[in-house]
Amino acid sequence: MPAAPELARPLTLGGALLGALARDARIGTPAYAYDLDGVAREARELRAAFEGKPHLVAYAVKANSAGPIVRALAAEGCGADVVSGAELLVATGAGIPPASIVYSGVAKTDDELALAIGTGDRGIGAVQLESAEEIERVAARARALGKKARVSVRVNPDVGLEELDTHAHIATGHDEAKFGIPLVDGAAAVDRVLALPELVLVGLTSHAGSQLTVTRGYVAAARALFEFTGSIRGRAPALAYVDAGGGFGIDYGEGCPARPMDFVREVRAEQERAGLGDLALYVEPGRSLVAAHGVLLARVIQPKVTRGRRWLMIDAGMNDLIRPALYGARHRIVPLDGEGGDLVEWRVVGPCCESSDDFGTHVLPAAPPWGVALLDAGAYGYTMASRYNGRPLPAEVFLKGGRIVAVRERKSRGAWVEERLGI
Ligand code: LLP
Repeated sequence: MPAAPELARPLTLGGALLGALARDARIGTPAYAYDLDGVAREARELRAAFEGKPHLVAYAVKANSAGPIVRALAAEGCGADVVSGAELLVATGAGIPPASIVYSGVAKTDDELALAIGTGDRGIGAVQLESAEEIERVAARARALGKKARVSVRVNPDVGLEELDTHAHIATGHDEAKFGIPLVDGAAAVDRVLALPELVLVGLTSHAGSQLTVTRGYVAAARALFEFTGSIRGRAPALAYVDAGGGFGIDYGEGCPARPMDFVREVRAEQERAGLGDLALYVEPGRSLVAAHGVLLARVIQPKVTRGRRWLMIDAGMNDLIRPALYGARHRIVPLDGEGGDLVEWRVVGPCCESSDDFGTHVLPAAPPWGVALLDAGAYGYTMASRYNGRPLPAEVFLKGGRIVAVRERKSRGAWVEERLGI
């Protein structure tokens, strides 16, 4: 039988602390707990990999949009990659300068475009254009507002799924994805942008996919982006950056040979080789900055042992953490107490009325523990949570130096009932 995973590695929060948090009446379960020191450290280490060269770490806010997280990253000099007007307002509200914000997304509304173009004195750093149609829409909005919009063209580098080595749902840089402008149409898109007086082409962008555990596909996508950049550079005088996107993987327990800085170092070398060393290099990491520094705390409601099957039923479900149900993802699970004694395999499941509300089989104490922590849940956990089955969104607690610095409480059951009946 495999050994039980070590508690909260590399999360710096100890098991005793997590157990105390889960038992804290102000917090309760299910609750996400985040280590802000760990998040800040990730950002510092990643920024160091640029060795002083012009760069922007544009944090993908979709991974975790909580104020304390975004403020911690803003304090480390990160910018933001946003995909909605709401995320844009979180980024600026958390102190990220508008010029350090890029806005991705295939279907931005007119209202969101107006917000991006109208933010600060000169609008945000760049609206990243994902289609020929969007080029015209952004120009029309800028014209209506009497402003110029700084833009980048997001090309789709057409890197195959095999090369990316990740789940099909989170691979974006292949030719059947809805994202980006196909490379073959990139030059026409650039020329159209340059012909429109309301638009200023400041960047070129690509994003290959998420949870990449090796650098190969990412570097291939960047190489394609840089080759394309070289081919149009002569006619784009305001071009200031190339953006290789996010996607650096983390170790969910099955290994992740490439570290975030490896992606940066290899892509920087490609950038130099392509003769583009004078341009700033942007990256858009989400997961790698936050995932390992958050856990989902849950209480064990009861075991169910029948006909040789052993289920451990916890009070966190797929509505709180949907990654296992949606992508077949596996999050390691550790006990909050009851360590020692015999270990057995438990199938850990939540309370939702769905067979996919299932966190997989885990080695845990035979005597059911009081509570458990689902590890590496700091990214795409709370931000993808829902209120399915009338379940309130989980609470959140933020720690710094091992102390609680902020708590966001769970809304009451009554609030949900009132909201539904109040229609
Ligand atoms: N930039 C763009 C344009 C993106 O589409 C994404 C993620 C990122 C940056 C950040 O990628 P990251 O560094 O976090 O891998 N919900 C899924 C992941 C979806 C990623 C979508 N795009 C999950 O839980 O695995």
